[in-house]
Amino acid sequence: MGSQLAVLGGRPVRREPWPVWPQYSPAVKAAIARVAESNVYCAHTGREVGRFEEAFAAYHGVGHAVGVANGTVALQAALAAAGIGCGDEVIVPSYTFVATGMVVVENNAIPVFVDCERTSQGLDPEDVRRKLSPRTRAIMPVHVNGYPCDMDAIMGIARERGLVVIEDCAHAHGAEYKGRKVGTIGHFGCFSFQLKKNLSVGEGGMVITSDLEAAHCLRQMRGFAWTAVTRNWRMGEFYGTIGAEQIKTLDEGNAKRRANVATLLEALGAVDGIAPLPGLPDTRPVYYNLILQYDEAVFGVPRRAFVKALTAEGIPVLVFYMPIQRWPTFPKADFFGRGCPFSCPLHEGGPVDYRGVSTPVADAVCDRINIEIKVQPTNGETEMKQVAEAIRKIAAHKDELREVERGIEEGKIQ
Ligand SMILES: Cc1ncc(COP(=O)(O)O)c(C=O)c1O
Repeated sequence: MGSQLAVLGGRPVRREPWPVWPQYSPAVKAAIARVAESNVYCAHTGREVGRFEEAFAAYHGVGHAVGVANGTVALQAALAAAGIGCGDEVIVPSYTFVATGMVVVENNAIPVFVDCERTSQGLDPEDVRRKLSPRTRAIMPVHVNGYPCDMDAIMGIARERGLVVIEDCAHAHGAEYKGRKVGTIGHFGCFSFQLKKNLSVGEGGMVITSDLEAAHCLRQMRGFAWTAVTRNWRMGEFYGTIGAEQIKTLDEGNAKRRANVATLLEALGAVDGIAPLPGLPDTRPVYYNLILQYDEAVFGVPRRAFVKALTAEGIPVLVFYMPIQRWPTFPKADFFGRGCPFSCPLHEGGPVDYRGVSTPVADAVCDRINIEIKVQPTNGETEMKQVAEAIRKIAAHKDELREVERGIEEGKIQ
């Protein structure tokens, strides 16, 4: 009998392309047309960004929401509003997108990379404690992949040490931690509305806060106000109008993601060597990605062979993240071209060397364990059952994976 797995020439579980995400609704398209007709495309004189900000603040039950050009500058602006700069250290998870670390450097401060814990894969509070120093000024927890992280422990440490907490909610719009929306627990919540996010406008970002003074500072900074620190970080009116529509369907989209996860996991049942990430108790993740954890000891081959096999079955699967201290900026310890901020004399901890940073859990998660499955609202029961079927099929023919791994090693499988 020939091979069963599609990667070795067998019949794939799915041949059709995967549903496109996002698909903007007729209401979004009508709103864009309305702005186009108005000839007012800049938030200086328009109302659309303001409408989105009001709706976003109301959704979160906070006093202030400030729209900006993208999620990266949302984080950068929050750090600046908190007064983080030269000589300061900021606790950042190793397991996140590189933007979370880069913004600290942009503000001339030093990111200190911390490992993740195994239940939500968010910041490990024990490792946070180990890496605090007299120079630590802020903590930036990330609700990575839409799973809320241990905010009680993080806020506890922040209170003890008088630190600012800036939540990176780029993956977690509408996720809840103990009944509270993420982004409302720390001093600032920062969101990205980039194309792939749960709330997508193409490119965009928002900072939320309950602090009036901080909100004022953010508004000054983002739009060339007559203050010392000011830039153009504004969101455009088209993005504002898309956001004001998209937020109306955010809860519905997140509910569909949860339903998709339930369908997938029920169809999957128990598969030795594949375990869904549990998430912390009393949290409601929003599954930017569903995380399935791969056990290479059970399958007998590294994750890459399994991922190749799953992709060949017609299932889009991602292995995207790496511990961000590996990003070239950090081992090189240079950013502004003269060693700053890593060897800045104002950093009393002395020059920083990231080559010895130890984050064993984040390393394992990124290099060997995590498989990111898309459960976007444009997918339905058919797609979710096909994901489960493909995984079960590979598990049933795991002996064939050795040949896949050999093919990868020899360059015969690309
Ligand atoms: C965790 C995280 N933080 C921040 C960002 C930056 O957002 P943006 O792409 O809107 O600048 C991203 C982007 O994907 C992200 O994944």
